[in-house]
Amino acid sequence: MNELQKLYPVKEQAKAITHIDSETYEKLYQQSIDQPEQFWAEQAEKFIDWVKPWDEVTSVDYKKAEISWFKGAQLNVSYNCIDRHLATKANETAIIFEGDEPTDDTRISYQELHDNVCRMANLLKDRGVKKGDNVCIYMPMIPEVGYAMLACARIGAVHSVVFGGFSTESIKARVLDADCQVVITADASVRGGRHIPLKANVDAAVADCKDVHTVVMVERTGASVNWNNERDVNYNQVIDTYPAICQPEIMDAEDPLFILYTSGSTGKPKGVLHTCGGYILYAAMTHKYVFDYQEGEVYWCTADAGWITGHSYIFYGPLANGATTLVFEGVPTYPDAGRFWQVCEKHKVNIFYTAPTAIRALMSLGDELVEKYDRSSIRLLGTVGEPINPEAWHWYYEIVGQSRCSVVDTWWQTETGGILITSLPGAVDMKPGAAGKPFFGVKPAILSKEGELLEGKTRGRLVMTGSWPGQMRTVYGDHQRFYDTYFSQYPGNYFTGDGAKRDEDDFYWITGRIDDVLNVSGHRLGTAEIESALVLHPAIAEAAVVGYPHEIKGQGIYCYITLMCSSHESDELIPELQEFVAKELGRFAKPDYIQYAPGLPKTRSGKIMRRILRKIAENELENLGDTSTLADPSVVEHLIENRIIHE
Ligand code: WTA
Repeated sequence: MNELQKLYPVKEQAKAITHIDSETYEKLYQQSIDQPEQFWAEQAEKFIDWVKPWDEVTSVDYKKAEISWFKGAQLNVSYNCIDRHLATKANETAIIFEGDEPTDDTRISYQELHDNVCRMANLLKDRGVKKGDNVCIYMPMIPEVGYAMLACARIGAVHSVVFGGFSTESIKARVLDADCQVVITADASVRGGRHIPLKANVDAAVADCKDVHTVVMVERTGASVNWNNERDVNYNQVIDTYPAICQPEIMDAEDPLFILYTSGSTGKPKGVLHTCGGYILYAAMTHKYVFDYQEGEVYWCTADAGWITGHSYIFYGPLANGATTLVFEGVPTYPDAGRFWQVCEKHKVNIFYTAPTAIRALMSLGDELVEKYDRSSIRLLGTVGEPINPEAWHWYYEIVGQSRCSVVDTWWQTETGGILITSLPGAVDMKPGAAGKPFFGVKPAILSKEGELLEGKTRGRLVMTGSWPGQMRTVYGDHQRFYDTYFSQYPGNYFTGDGAKRDEDDFYWITGRIDDVLNVSGHRLGTAEIESALVLHPAIAEAAVVGYPHEIKGQGIYCYITLMCSSHESDELIPELQEFVAKELGRFAKPDYIQYAPGLPKTRSGKIMRRILRKIAENELENLGDTSTLADPSVVEHLIENRIIHE
């Protein structure tokens, strides 16, 4: 096969066990659009156990950014993820834990999950946590992160998980923004043999948070930590003293379930708020259909609990469906780059879900480490986080999946709670690089920049013209910001921030963010956040940050900085600044390149012309676009001359 043929779309229909073929998909999809209330009521009855049914299926007003689903209904999410499975699955595996070291694994049954979650819930109650309180979770990828999330859900507390790669400053900002009084953490995390002192990070973060009265610490490594007798609780020492029974709190469908901070194009990260009823229904239903999940199968999503993918597709969706979900503590390249496939062989993984950045990184290391392991248990492969390039798609399909597994692309966002556009296996053809078609009940549209609705084969900005149950309900503490960010640009629509094209077969292809949000190795980052971190350094007067295409990471981080005094330019300053940002935000936000910029290209009104900075970072100089509005054109020449050409 030559290279070109290799890139030619695999227009073969994906394989699935659930019998939704393309005709059924079209029919069901149409029904979900024509009679949404009936459709969602049926799904809600099928997927979720309710204490009390709803008065109204949905009520949505995008003009006020007011959204509700299943109003009046009552349920408990942890009951739906655990208790209701006990009658038939008490001894079946809920969680397979695979530690950082390949010799370290355990299986946790549904009964054990129940007992552990109840004990943790009782511990939280004992420390004064009540329904409606916000609890921060900063944990490694160990089963206890799931216990903590579900314990909150059980007692009606609202969790805010902070990714374990975030720094002290980021934890502090999130603890303060959500007024968390309790933080759950571990002594340290281990990833790829590297230890990260989580407890010490929390200690430093909460030193200035006077309302934090409790820090619960799970022992993971036995690392020595500082201890505050009044505030700190050692989970391992006390947990067995708590009863393994805790009555689930009855929650309204629209009560908050969790807050998860995510980056936007401006300002501080936003606290995306999801509620109980709609979210759990949407997570469960998409997990079932998109991954074609069948009873007894082993399902593995490699995300981290600190991101939405970990929330919806490691814990909530799979557990609501009574699945066996694998929780992996490590990294794809430790002890070597065959780890993913070794784990698939060991635990007989049937469904495997990861990100293009991981696929590209492993692809570049050759096929041998894949072929060494038996992958015959795998029947479905998923991808999420960014558009997958056709080369990576083909490698995933042909080498990892031996050309016999479906590859499902899944497009969604922290804000959407679950998958909105996907190549539903068995129903939607696989086209490498295309996200696919809308999930049931989802109404995508493409608009021009000016907001005109574009029909047929086209390209523009991706919006949703209606709501779906998993949609976020507000930005925590700032409803106006919710409206401004998502509903003000194109009235009557939810604006995704992504560009997209639709092809002749009505497939959606995501072309990437059209705002100042970066996607670095699947981690979402605002350029504004990196700029704010840079200008905290005393040497820097001004900074502008843009993304550029990066072969493995999807996007890399390129910074332009203006110093307080240009005589401070030095070779040592650049690595110092890279470390400075890593410390402020987290290692994943460490800039790839930093260029000195005595001046930044600005309009006469002082606005930085990022478009030009992006082109220079991409080394695409032929097409800088309109530069006539530049206040000082010589600035651009200087930047071009001194640009950093990446390897
Ligand atoms: C991007 C992650 C193309 C997109 C679940 C979106 C994707 C942002 C895909 C959300 C995909 C996610 N194809 N692009 N399959 N999945 N994206 O909030 O730009 O971390 O807006 O949620 O990731 O990132 P977030």
